[in-house]
Amino acid sequence: RTDMIVNGSSSPAVVEQSHESIKHRDKTVPPQWIHNQTLSLTIRKHILKFLDAEKDISVLKGTLKPGDIIHYVFDRDSTMNISQNLYALLPRTSPLKGKHYRTCAIVGNSGILLNSGCGKEIDTHSFVIRCNLAPVQEYTHDVGTKTDLVTMNPSVIQRAFEDLVNDTWREKLLQRLHSLNGSILWIPAFMAKGGKERVEWVNELILKHHINVRTAYPSLRLLHAVRGYWLTNKVYIKRPTTGLLMYTLATRFCNRIYLYGFWPFPQGPDQNPVKYHYYDSLKYGYMSQASPHTMPLEFKALKVLHHQGALKLTVGPCD
Ligand code: CTP
Repeated sequence: RTDMIVNGSSSPAVVEQSHESIKHRDKTVPPQWIHNQTLSLTIRKHILKFLDAEKDISVLKGTLKPGDIIHYVFDRDSTMNISQNLYALLPRTSPLKGKHYRTCAIVGNSGILLNSGCGKEIDTHSFVIRCNLAPVQEYTHDVGTKTDLVTMNPSVIQRAFEDLVNDTWREKLLQRLHSLNGSILWIPAFMAKGGKERVEWVNELILKHHINVRTAYPSLRLLHAVRGYWLTNKVYIKRPTTGLLMYTLATRFCNRIYLYGFWPFPQGPDQNPVKYHYYDSLKYGYMSQASPHTMPLEFKALKVLHHQGALKLTVGPCD
């Protein structure tokens, strides 16, 4: 692994130190990651000028009613209706209301997690965020199991659950949803057209099977607000990825943020091949020019923040 992302002290219980204390460190020793509390607070404050995670994490029941028409954020000419089921699943209050966590893990889906042995460390964090219903059961040693919030782009239903074509796939999705066991299921339902039916299928399953999840549907302004924040900071992203969205939201309620599974490159720091996802065979072509994401650019920005101590990126094995 490169020396930029060193797991000097891989335990999230890293001791707070001031940056000054390492100024005269021996240059031959890889720098230990040290949390920069002041910078983290400044970033939180700046981001709050664009969005408030507590509010923007979900549209609330009081603000919509069944039958209301929504214009998709990225397809303004297309609309959807708020169904009875979606309305039933809107939270009454923000699932993050008044929440503060000492440490948070955001687990991206890169194959860099394979053989990392990071599962145990990930599970020690106070709040664990995962992306796109990524499986954990078969990968616990590398990714852990604790899940406090998991995202679900509607496209996941097609990609990972074969659009529920038969009972087997329906059952698979049901099992995954049951395993969430009280965590927040975050569904960007209003972003792009095309996902309406998939969102409705999931809503229906949750209600019909009394699945114990706390659903959240991000606000209409969230994506543009997040993009606005990063553009203002000269990070010229096209459309923020789920991972970047989660980091941006987490700054509001997490004191220290640890990122795992962020590595949008086919070769690892050791030049060995790295799978795009740790759990499927999706290829890197998927994020070519056609993709609305600019992952390597995002990664560069996250790397800078790692160096500054605002977040900790882990791309190597955990001790
Ligand atoms: N990620 C990464 N490197 C990879 C794969 C993923 O850094 N090789 C990070 C990205 O931040 C990504 C997150 O992990 O958003 C979750 O991965 P994935 O499910 O692939 O998310 P998206 O690509 O954002 O999903 P979509 O294309 O459906 O929006």
